[in-house]
Amino acid sequence: MRYFFAIVTAILTIIIFIPEKVRGGNNTEIPKYLGSEACKACHQREYRSFTRYAKKSSSFESIQRVKKGLTEEEIKKCYFCHTTGYGKPSGFVSLEETPHLKNAGCEVCHGPGELHVRTQRAQDIKMNLTMKDCEECHISERVKAFRYKPMIHGGAH
Ligand code: HEC
Ligand code: HEC
Ligand code: HEC
Ligand code: HEC
Repeated sequence: MRYFFAIVTAILTIIIFIPEKVRGGNNTEIPKYLGSEACKACHQREYRSFTRYAKKSSSFESIQRVKKGLTEEEIKKCYFCHTTGYGKPSGFVSLEETPHLKNAGCEVCHGPGELHVRTQRAQDIKMNLTMKDCEECHISERVKAFRYKPMIHGGAH
């Protein structure tokens, strides 16, 4: 019987402590979205050409421009593609609460940047992108509708 309890205790210990270890404690939760402005200081070249040439950098305006006649619910559907991280933890919520994420910024491609900004390490930011990463928003109906084929180096910097 004692043996049995020892085993149960051991198993419980594993269940309770291992996930904590794998997660590395509470400090390494999913990194947060910071917005493109947070990348500017260290990546001026990318920031400049992105804000000048990529339509993503003003994608919230596109909604504003055509939203007349749309319901609040319909407009929210636009946010998934036209803002940064809508519906995801720490992503865009509303113009009032998260103005820094209103456009589709650097992080829609490179992922949430909080950890990378802190460590400045290459491995803490997403770099090797594939078409799958684009297709989250450049879905086929839309691509067809606009007769547009995204290329991996387009729309960035
Ligand atoms: C405090 C400075 C700093 C900030 C802020 C910063 N970065 Fe970086 N970033 C770096 C440095 C330094 C490197 C080069 C790391 C290396 O090569 O080891 C880098 C590299 C990168 C790379 C290339 C990674 C690779 O695999 O080669 C990407 C992509 C990147 N940053 C994106 C971002 C994005 C997006 C943001 C904003 C959310 C951002 N960075 C903010 C310093 C910064
Ligand atoms: C979070 C959604 C999202 C993701 C992910 C995304 N895009 Fe976009 N992209 C947009 C939106 C929205 C626009 C249109 C912005 C507007 O006109 O308001 C756009 C526009 C573009 C354009 C049009 C030209 C320009 O200068 O902006 C190109 C090219 C493009 N994206 C390429 C890509 C590529 C390549 C990837 C993957 C590496 C990608 N996008 C990933 C949302 C996204
Ligand atoms: C599934 C992702 C997605 C959703 C949802 C979405 N868009 Fe877009 N939108 C895009 C992409 C990608 C582009 C880039 C156009 C392209 O494919 O060439 C774009 C482009 C645009 C443009 C610019 C067209 C131009 O000619 O410059 C406007 C305006 C726009 N969207 C408005 C909206 C509105 C309003 C909503 C919500 C009712 C919405 N979008 C929902 C992905 C999306
Ligand atoms: C549409 C997707 C997309 C967006 C938005 C985007 N990038 Fe990138 N970025 C890429 C791709 C793809 C590469 C890899 C290019 C390559 O392989 O040469 C890249 C590469 C980089 C690199 C490494 C450059 C190098 O020469 O090593 C940095 C730094 C970077 N991006 C920063 C940013 C910053 C900062 C922003 C916002 C101002 C941003 N990116 C927005 C797709 C994007």
